[in-house]
Amino acid sequence: VGPDVIDIRKLYGQTGKFTYDPGFLSTASCNSKITYIDGDKGELLYRGYPIEQLATNCDFLETCYLLLNGDLPNQSQKDEFVNRVTNHTMVNEQMQFFLRGFRRDAHPMAVLTGLVGALSAFYHDSTDINNPEHRKVAAIRLIAKMPTLVAMAYKYSIGQPFIYPKNDLSYAGNFLRMMFATPCEEYKVNPVLERAMDRIFTLHADHEQNASTSTVRLCGSSGTNPFAAIAAGVACLWGPAHGGANEACLNMLEEIQAMGGISKVGEFMEKVKDKNSGVRLMGFGHRVYKNYDPRAKLMQETCNEVLAELGLENDPLFALAKKLEQIALEDDYFVQRKLYPNVDFYSGIVQRAIGIPVPLFTAIFALARTVGWIAQLDEMIGDPEYKIGRPRQLFVGAEKRDVAPIAKR
Ligand code: ACO
Repeated sequence: VGPDVIDIRKLYGQTGKFTYDPGFLSTASCNSKITYIDGDKGELLYRGYPIEQLATNCDFLETCYLLLNGDLPNQSQKDEFVNRVTNHTMVNEQMQFFLRGFRRDAHPMAVLTGLVGALSAFYHDSTDINNPEHRKVAAIRLIAKMPTLVAMAYKYSIGQPFIYPKNDLSYAGNFLRMMFATPCEEYKVNPVLERAMDRIFTLHADHEQNASTSTVRLCGSSGTNPFAAIAAGVACLWGPAHGGANEACLNMLEEIQAMGGISKVGEFMEKVKDKNSGVRLMGFGHRVYKNYDPRAKLMQETCNEVLAELGLENDPLFALAKKLEQIALEDDYFVQRKLYPNVDFYSGIVQRAIGIPVPLFTAIFALARTVGWIAQLDEMIGDPEYKIGRPRQLFVGAEKRDVAPIAKR
């Protein structure tokens, strides 16, 4: 509680009075020590460390350690953590049969929601959310198995054999191999793409009380098992106003390209500004950032590196995205509403260049955000003040009335 915060519980207690705040624009649901965002400055800190420094000087597993434990690991702590994660990268063979029950053209997020929820049926020694040891093992399992599950979902969708994890590779390198290797030929991880993948994971690792994280906390607050709570987060992330925005953003760029590319940008922007069109500039705007999302800057940097490595500097979608950004940053509509690119604006272009199909983008976001969800869940359960989440409502429906016999309705 600070100068701008009112503790409603102390003000109203059990008097029956409560606040009305749809969309939680003005409601803090918890105390948290994990992630800090200054939306006006465009600043993002994980456990106090600026995202720019983490994305430049640390890898994703160090960031995972930081989010879970509160500080960065030293070398031996890192080695032990990496070792624990790599020991859990395989999934139970039975999961393959479960996966094979899905249609091959199912959306990867539908498949992932099912697979993550199903983990609770396989790992009974890590399902008690109130047991700190169970939570720790579940955390390691989830971080380790998410790349395997996402890659399995992809391989299944294209009818190729699953590629098992290879534990002498880095977290990102292993993921790229499980995605793109085949049993027919040698696969060598490209270090530029490996670093880009790792950065995508780091930039998406946590983002305080967004919709999916709040979903995980609310779901976990009933005492359900950690896998079920994370599956709820995956389901929430799927929506186009949240994690689905990277997929929606790339689809938007492809549509503009099909309309005629850069020459049609002006026309498209007029549509965005027309409130009746229902068209939004995907990858733009944010509930908290009223300035440039710092992750978008880092992602643009990575985009340049990846496209240069692959000889795609003249990628038309990248040129289109930069043009849209340039116009938006000078246009009153966007300036007045403080709408800037968010992390999703450039991440789709990077992923597409790496070879990741568009429908898989949000699944990769889910893979990366899993650590944030777990860290937040762990923090909530460890808080002595934690209670089951139970919002109230303003009832605006019918008054009390009698049921008429069916013939008289
Ligand atoms: N394009 C055009 N107009 C926009 C956009 C956009 N991308 N985003 C917001 N606006 C406008 C709204 O129409 C509204 O205008 P008004 O005041 O004239 O009615 C104003 O800006 C405020 O928008 P809200 O929707 O009220 O803002 P909110 O905080 O609820 O929404 C959100 C934030 C959902 C991210 C929104 O900006 C959006 O839909 N962006 C596009 C989708 C997207 O990129 N989502 C990714 C978010 S980041 C993430 O999850 C990783």
